[in-house]
Amino acid sequence: MASAPQESLPARLVVLVSGSGTNLQALLDAQAAQGPAAYGAEVVAVGADRDGITGLERAERAGLPTFVRRLRDHPDRASWDRALTRDVAAHRPDLVVSAGFMKVVGAEFLAAFGGRIINTHPALLPSFPGAHGVRDAFAHGVKVTGCTVHFIDEGVDTGPIIAQGVVPVREKDDESALHERIKEVERELLVDAVGRLARNGYRIEGRKVYIP
Ligand code: GAR
Repeated sequence: MASAPQESLPARLVVLVSGSGTNLQALLDAQAAQGPAAYGAEVVAVGADRDGITGLERAERAGLPTFVRRLRDHPDRASWDRALTRDVAAHRPDLVVSAGFMKVVGAEFLAAFGGRIINTHPALLPSFPGAHGVRDAFAHGVKVTGCTVHFIDEGVDTGPIIAQGVVPVREKDDESALHERIKEVERELLVDAVGRLARNGYRIEGRKVYIP
């Protein structure tokens, strides 16, 4: 699967969040500091699976349209996935970024945006996938962990890897201190990866991602 460099930069990003949205903020800060055209991408809307989160406040402060699509408002997961797909498609994204979005998207979402959905995960995949990557790595006693920016496929945190960052575990760490240090690396990694994908285009061949 290939994606040519955007004909008209900046690429349109829809960002999905579930929590504090510091990764979203890093993307917003990069586009503000460099200018969307030079950075190569611009957040055009922010979606969430819950209300009342700081991630949505950040979007509103930036003057961006937001939407909330809660699983519990739908009879089943397929109907939630269909509605989320519609919400995102309405903003005509070139790339979708799952930045701390704590839901697994379904078949319809993948059919619409497959090969264009980027996720950031707080562990060195394929180790410690799932909702508790930091906790699981910490409990395992690893000496280094980190973060992974990858494309989403039909599995949980199994898609082709775009970039990884390494963070050493310190003796005095607890899960929360470790996660904060991972997030410092993660924000830079995500900003860099999204910018390069948008500016240069990319190719996915099997498990490998090539950015020229
Ligand atoms: C990030 O560390 C992200 O990797 C993680 O949630 C945090 C969100 O932070 N995502 C997952 O664990 C997904 N499995 P943020 O809301 O401040 O951007």
